[in-house]
Amino acid sequence: MITIAMPKGRIFEEAVELLRKAEYRLPPEFEESRKLIIDVPEEEMRFILAKPMDVVTYVEHGVADLGIAGKDVMLEEERDVYEILDLKISKCHLAVAGLPNGKVNGVAPRVATKYPNVASSYFREQGEQVEIIKLNGSIELAPLIGLADRIVDIVSTGRTLKENGLVELERIAEITSRLIVNPVSYRMKDTKIDEMMERLSRVIGDE
Ligand code: PRP
Repeated sequence: MITIAMPKGRIFEEAVELLRKAEYRLPPEFEESRKLIIDVPEEEMRFILAKPMDVVTYVEHGVADLGIAGKDVMLEEERDVYEILDLKISKCHLAVAGLPNGKVNGVAPRVATKYPNVASSYFREQGEQVEIIKLNGSIELAPLIGLADRIVDIVSTGRTLKENGLVELERIAEITSRLIVNPVSYRMKDTKIDEMMERLSRVIGDE
């Protein structure tokens, strides 16, 4: 039996589609279910559904052998897991954004983000002193309401920025989802994991 931690939300459907392309027989009601643990006995697989930021925690602690996690999450926190495959799904990028011609506040502009570590190291590398404000979502709100001068956030279609009158200022990193594995699981269940990597590799788009 292999346990896979899946991120609930927008990555989930793309990940399920990829697994199905790799000929894993997942039940049709897989996407509709509200269950947090889904067993697929015919494939000897168990799926657990977690928040994207928590997927890595489940894998690191070994309660999930594998996980699907965004590169954004991997960049934000250093964790004891192996990243074994770029699934090339859920493509987006991390960017700095703000109001067009937005005035920057004093010596240390305030930057709101869900990714405090990524943002800190980015601005440190730029030699820019900033004050980081950690938020958990709806980051685009911060400059509109005067909480921050800029934001560091995920841009996918760019719609959220546009509809809130914000503009992208700098591109920080390209993001896709990755297959991650617990180091002990990788030793113990290498045959099954290698097989999965092979099957997925065959169906991953290379654009
Ligand atoms: C993400 C991200 C942006 C949005 C970008 O938010 O934080 O807000 O998607 O997508 P777009 O460029 O296609 O508009 P998410 O929906 O994950 O919710 P959040 O507010 O909880 O971060």
